[in-house]
Amino acid sequence: MRRVVFTALLGFVLSLSVFADEVAFIQYQDRFHPVLGQGGMVVSQEALASRVGADILAAGGNAVDAAVATGFALAVTLPQAGNLGGGGFMLVHLAETGKTIAIDYREMAPARAHRDMFLDNDGNVDAQQARFSALSTGVPGTVAGLIHAQQHYGSLPLKRVLAPAITLAEKGFSVGYPLSYSLQRAQPRLSQQSAARAYFLTDEGSALPPGHRWVQKDLAATLKRIARHGADDFYRGRTADLIVAEMERSGGLISHDDLANYQVVEREPVVGSYRGLEVISMPPPSSGGIHLVQMLNILEGWDLAAEGHNSAGYLHRLIEAMRRAYADRSKYLGDPDFVQVPVAELIDKAYAERLRDGIDLERATPSSEVAPALKPIAESPQTTHYSVWDEAGNVVTNTYTLNFSYGNGIAVSGAGFLLNNEMDDFSSKPGAPNAFGLLGDEANAIEPGKRPLSSMTPTLVLRDGVPVLVTGGPGGSRIITSVLQVILNHVDFGMNVAEATAAPRIHHQWFPDAVDVEPGISPDTINLLRAKGHDTRISGWAIGRTQSITRQQGLFQGMTDYRWPGGSAEPAR
Ligand code: DON
Repeated sequence: MRRVVFTALLGFVLSLSVFADEVAFIQYQDRFHPVLGQGGMVVSQEALASRVGADILAAGGNAVDAAVATGFALAVTLPQAGNLGGGGFMLVHLAETGKTIAIDYREMAPARAHRDMFLDNDGNVDAQQARFSALSTGVPGTVAGLIHAQQHYGSLPLKRVLAPAITLAEKGFSVGYPLSYSLQRAQPRLSQQSAARAYFLTDEGSALPPGHRWVQKDLAATLKRIARHGADDFYRGRTADLIVAEMERSGGLISHDDLANYQVVEREPVVGSYRGLEVISMPPPSSGGIHLVQMLNILEGWDLAAEGHNSAGYLHRLIEAMRRAYADRSKYLGDPDFVQVPVAELIDKAYAERLRDGIDLERATPSSEVAPALKPIAESPQTTHYSVWDEAGNVVTNTYTLNFSYGNGIAVSGAGFLLNNEMDDFSSKPGAPNAFGLLGDEANAIEPGKRPLSSMTPTLVLRDGVPVLVTGGPGGSRIITSVLQVILNHVDFGMNVAEATAAPRIHHQWFPDAVDVEPGISPDTINLLRAKGHDTRISGWAIGRTQSITRQQGLFQGMTDYRWPGGSAEPAR
């Protein structure tokens, strides 16, 4: 009998320890928990599209297959940011070789674009032209980028990964509240052009209501042509003809040659380190990776955990790091195929130390006193991010966009998709802020064939060469700072990915010299920051919408950012 009891007890203790080992990351004190899952995970801002990717994983596809399928599905189900007519950036981490590839499919300026194209007769920037006209459209890169990823790193046929998006467009899906709400907000813009009106509004010209079964026949036909002819259809075939015809109708610049000359570029990712972890992110023409690593370098010199999460001492350090990084962004960053970007210098730890030494821990430094510091070498907007991780350890982190929600509101008649207004990400005039209030200089001036500077920051964090966190998000200039805070929350403050996502965020971008603060930061803390000289203001819109996954002991933990409804983390099983 005693033996039986002993064996039972031993079994119980053993099972407890196995159990404890498997779920050690679940903490009773955590207030938010991520979605857990096995077999892989897809997190995106729209649940149908997340499911599309997770089903591809469950069917034996790898992370790239799932990412490409999700990318095309979002073009159907999340039209404000998922797209065929925009561009973006993707990191692919391959488990077998440990290599991470940065795929740049950012839009390119058409050949007829020129430096002063958005200046009016008085030499001022004409924001209407730069943001809402057909001139604001850069040559789209999304189709080329997704297909490039698929062909080089996917394992399933292109037709297979496009099939779910085609079905969603052809058979339709039920419009949810988030989509209906976002269409309502964009209704004034979408009602300006007949094709956009026909595709995205009811016959009476209002937003598609919740519950409406939305079929997109022209988009389904475009996706089918892409499935049949690959990127050739979009850049040289029928879709190219439709895009050029739309340009002629709407007064845009994109020609057949511009489309045929579009190039996807594989680049070396930006690689940094933070407290012994490796941080891999997007290189120029995105500013995201460089300034993420630069801010981490500055912050690494302080014991942030000792300050306390979102305390005034912590936030002061964060703000001062942000201020200095965004000052450099305005000066040194642009398309590396056109300007020499001092990547190594900007992410150098010694440079960060110099910047850190210049930070007064008691007082805010006015932005007017912070100049780009390298020794000279010479509306509610919307983007969307998704993260994919497969069982084998391959990871994809992808951010793509039309720039604003619904881009410039101009749809390609007959093709069923919207065009971007990414040309506004160029600096139309030195010193004149773009739609995100960002300042730029010569390095980001408009030139034919050049890519506008971006803030998109698809990011991967690794420990000993093994991915531990994948993240990224939309938010214009706030992308870099929201990704930064997810990483700090997880690494310095030990938060799980759900808490790291939910915690209130702040943002500073050098100019305007003000700190945007999300509700949830204590008024006492805000008072302490004000006493140090920070001009704080409660942010009118959420700071970023990250889509992140961590993996611990083989188990995936995914978290969509509930700063926008309708997203989901979907495990493969
Ligand atoms: O590339 C960029 O940085 C911008 N076009 C991104 C725009 C954006 O994130 C809008 N979303 N909230």
